[in-house]
Amino acid sequence: MAEYKLEVTTGDMTNAGTSDYIFVTLIGAEGESERTELDNYGIDFTAGKVRTYTVKSKASLGKLLLVKVEKDPLFFLLDDEWFCRKIVVTTPEKEVILFPCNRWVSKGELVELRGGKAMKVFEEEHPLLIEHRKKELTLATCLYRWAINVPGLPHMNNFLTNSMLPDEIRFSWSKTLEVDYTTVASFAEFTFKGMTGSTEDWENIEDIKKVFLSHTTPTAEYVTEHWKEDEFYGYQFLNGSNPNVIQRCLKLPSNFPVTEEMVKPFLQKGSSLKKEMEKGNIFLSDYKRMDGLPTRVQNGEPLPLTAGLGLFYMNPENKLMPIAIQLYQQPSEQNPIFLPSDSESDWMLAKLFLKNADAILHEAIYHLMNTHYLAEGFTVATVRSFPAIHPLYKLLIPHFRYTLQVITDGRPKLIGAKGALSKCSLGTEGLNEIMRRALSGMTYSSLCLPEDIAARGLESVPNFYYRDDGLKLWSIINSFVKAMVEHYYPSDSEVRKDSELQAWINEIYIHSFLANKNSGIPTSFQTVEELIKFITMVIFRVTAKHASVNNGQYDYSWIPSCPLMTRKAPPKTKGQSSMKTLFETMPNVGETAIFLAMALLLTYKYTDVVPMGSYPVERFDEPAPKKIIKEFQEKLSQLSEAIEKRNSKLALPYIYLDPALMENSTAI
Ligand code: FE2
Repeated sequence: MAEYKLEVTTGDMTNAGTSDYIFVTLIGAEGESERTELDNYGIDFTAGKVRTYTVKSKASLGKLLLVKVEKDPLFFLLDDEWFCRKIVVTTPEKEVILFPCNRWVSKGELVELRGGKAMKVFEEEHPLLIEHRKKELTLATCLYRWAINVPGLPHMNNFLTNSMLPDEIRFSWSKTLEVDYTTVASFAEFTFKGMTGSTEDWENIEDIKKVFLSHTTPTAEYVTEHWKEDEFYGYQFLNGSNPNVIQRCLKLPSNFPVTEEMVKPFLQKGSSLKKEMEKGNIFLSDYKRMDGLPTRVQNGEPLPLTAGLGLFYMNPENKLMPIAIQLYQQPSEQNPIFLPSDSESDWMLAKLFLKNADAILHEAIYHLMNTHYLAEGFTVATVRSFPAIHPLYKLLIPHFRYTLQVITDGRPKLIGAKGALSKCSLGTEGLNEIMRRALSGMTYSSLCLPEDIAARGLESVPNFYYRDDGLKLWSIINSFVKAMVEHYYPSDSEVRKDSELQAWINEIYIHSFLANKNSGIPTSFQTVEELIKFITMVIFRVTAKHASVNNGQYDYSWIPSCPLMTRKAPPKTKGQSSMKTLFETMPNVGETAIFLAMALLLTYKYTDVVPMGSYPVERFDEPAPKKIIKEFQEKLSQLSEAIEKRNSKLALPYIYLDPALMENSTAI
């Protein structure tokens, strides 16, 4: 008689337990056990509990291949689903094998778990496992399919609403509750304050401040105190929510005729624009991508939109100062170049219009498309291409937690006809068009932080915390991925012959990048090195990059300096504006409520989070990957300490890339 010890773990989420009958059958290379009920004294399967059982067979089953799990209801009750986290089997030969499950089991459903070492397709030898692998992928490709939402944009998943998503990938009960609560609570709060639907203009800054700081953060407080200062304005282009546009300027664009005389008063005494450009101290934020876009029609008129250009100077005190702003691409008398020496309201308005373009690009391209849409594509390709036993499935899937629900829920709520983001200057049509433009020009290298920083000439810019923390994170993720990939792919030939891996990258190339050759996205992998780089990009993008563009949304949604829409076109001549013009230009009270509610929802501190580098669900069974994960976690924790130490000396700490404050996936 051979005895197998089974340690069965039920998931810890609400309702994970069941009072139904659970049966298992162990399938080995040399036979299979009887179908055995798992039944101890008392309740067997309660949320978060681990229970131990014995399964007997006449003789050893040989190499253990599969654990078959079945559930039968109590005869008079309805199906009571069970979330099985994992089963750990100790064989008579004292081998301990992990069988990850991580799924709901329903009545009559046949669930067969693979256990042990991660395996690539060409390593499979046993016909039963070859067949099992094929069956798993056939089911996955039927369940998860690609769909086209808007032609010219990355393809999306096939689930139209959250209720259609498989239970395994949906929000926990607590996260659902908190998301619903935040939505309802902010609506109730703004309604109570008389803001919802109000078409009134703001009348003074203090009123805006009262509303904004009712959900205060240290950064939000700093913003309300310093928003008028040029020094803080420049800071935001490096360390705000959108550090993605600014670049070093070695030559002025021909359509931005800034003269020496214009900017001389703002440069170091005795210097010139030409000299400062040569020294690498001049920077440009150019929003030409937005030129000519259709805008939302409000009260019968299209809203104004300015595709501006902003010139910045890194002064000897290492402060990035705006020194010239032109609001439209074509220079003309009606399109003056605004300067810090203009009237306070003219300069404030120029800065506001430039930030309006920046805020829209931030949300549409750098947040929605470059993180959420790409994360969605990476997730769909992964679940369709890799079975759960594949090492890259085990490595990647924790980084896609909640990603499909966030985008399935967020797409209509953000950019649908009534979406909050669609209330920006562009509206749904314009948002889709700007994303289409961005996708057609997107390159692989722009998605890799070290290359992006180098291409924009920002390697030596002082006080650039986004770059400093981001490059360290990139390097830590890269070492982690390198160790994992080299463990499972000791040579290039292993990469080349992994047909599942090749199918994965091909799906991403076709469905996320629309088979655009110019993007430089690989269509296949030939070397271990290529694979390491791509996986590093994927994990960095869905964790760090998303955190950098997501987590500061409320902090920087201060309407008088960073509005998502403007109601009035900028002045065509200088000296005609006043503070009243600013209030007439920025969103009105009701529009402010919509944007603030959106930012609150997307930055709320939810309790159900998995921090960066945490893997609460056990998937790897071998010592090597477990050790690699531990080293990764240690490096992340050291970086977090260093960032905290640096931040303690800063008037405004940069917190968005602190691993301890970042999630392990694009989860909101
Ligand atoms: Fe997000």
